[in-house]
Amino acid sequence: MQDGHRQCGDWHRPSRNGSLTRSYSVTAKLLPLVTPSAKREISTDRALLLVNINQLLTLRSASGNPGPRRGPDLAALGIIKDGAVLCSAGKIVFACKTKDAFRDPWLKRNRKKIVEIDCAGQVVLPGFVDSHTHPVFVTPRLGDFEKRIAGETYEQIAEAGGGIRLSVEGVRKAGKKLLVEKVLDALHQMAEQGTTTVEAKSGYGLTVDSEIKSLETIRGAAAKWPGTVIATLLGAHVVPREFHGRSQEYVELVCKQMIPLVVQRKLAQFVDVFTDRGAFTAEDTDKVFDAAKKHGLGVRAHVCQLTETELRPLLRFNVASLDHLDYVSDGDIRQLAKTETVATLVPGANYFLGLEKYPPARKLMDGGAAVALATDYNPGSSPTASMPFVLSLACTHLKMSPAEAIAAATINGAWALRLQERKGSIEPGKDADLAVFDVEDYREIAYWVASNRCAFSVLNGTVPSSSAQ
Ligand code: NIG
Ligand code: FE
Repeated sequence: MQDGHRQCGDWHRPSRNGSLTRSYSVTAKLLPLVTPSAKREISTDRALLLVNINQLLTLRSASGNPGPRRGPDLAALGIIKDGAVLCSAGKIVFACKTKDAFRDPWLKRNRKKIVEIDCAGQVVLPGFVDSHTHPVFVTPRLGDFEKRIAGETYEQIAEAGGGIRLSVEGVRKAGKKLLVEKVLDALHQMAEQGTTTVEAKSGYGLTVDSEIKSLETIRGAAAKWPGTVIATLLGAHVVPREFHGRSQEYVELVCKQMIPLVVQRKLAQFVDVFTDRGAFTAEDTDKVFDAAKKHGLGVRAHVCQLTETELRPLLRFNVASLDHLDYVSDGDIRQLAKTETVATLVPGANYFLGLEKYPPARKLMDGGAAVALATDYNPGSSPTASMPFVLSLACTHLKMSPAEAIAAATINGAWALRLQERKGSIEPGKDADLAVFDVEDYREIAYWVASNRCAFSVLNGTVPSSSAQ
């Protein structure tokens, strides 16, 4: 347990952006103690105080080492026993022991104006950062599911007309209203399980218009959700049917039409490429990354899911994350360890595809790479919105400790999206993104399989009524 936190009395010092001082306005009238069972939305103009937290996982860096967490730093959760967190105007004001919070003179004077939540017997941690999802699709791929049960592989199903291209048909036909409903439903499911930041990819449109429609869908859903959404253009998901045998023309379309338009309309922060057998080559990826970088976008890629791709040439693009990595080589693990590129593992896909092989998480971690965990929420390989389930898989199949899994799903997820200054830990000045779990010990989050123990989430200072169960 770590107890060396700044005194609560220090919190009035302006934070990095200078915005958090004692002068913030608290407009709430006298409010009763709010229990997690209250069915209402707590607006961001009221300060929010969580108290009596059995274990408060701050994820504050103990070592002070720069960069994403790696090696032993990954398991350091910065736990405060009997903790308290004060949030105001969507930001964390302080995190400390409950008794120290109540000694604070300002809090003493204003306590009745603050929404106070008793978290006795609960664990509070930074909201999960789900840094890899594909939420813009219409229907589940149940036929693919049955075929796999009958013995066909993911690639065989794709070659026979199923797979990603099947979801493309649905998205191309769908109106934006329906797509927004689908994405919003996914975002709510995520928040109900502790996720407060989501990376959302396009990638089932594969025409200029349908990729733009998908990204506009993400923007539309994000505007209706109190959490944070980071959009990624995945125009290079697969070569669409109409470009069969003309993959270079499609790559050109992505580089010369999609990327410039997405930038002009400010629809995405990142560009992703599915770099693997049956999708795009490392050379194609080089071209797409080059175009993305020239237009000021960040880059990430799906790699080594089905076959090995040499990663070293991609690393020169300062890639934010490389995801999947089932077939990563030892040499590339050494290269990854020298960079801030995050190795994002998505074991939900291995589970759902019924694979025996999982990504070599221990080798990656022990070799010094920075590892994150994400759901890969999508209709083909990983139809789960649950980060706790991914944590469970990470422990049972990737042999990550519960502590490593939590850091990989929070602070390293934030690094994977280059949001480490705002997300992923509970520290003054960061966004007020919290997950409150009905468990006494943080290890239970990964322990209780397929049962949602998340009591509620706080997203940018707001508790949505849908997650306050
Ligand atoms: O991350 N591999 C590429 N994309 C997704 C699967 C998409 C799908 O099958 O619809 C993945 O596993
Ligand atoms: Fe994916």
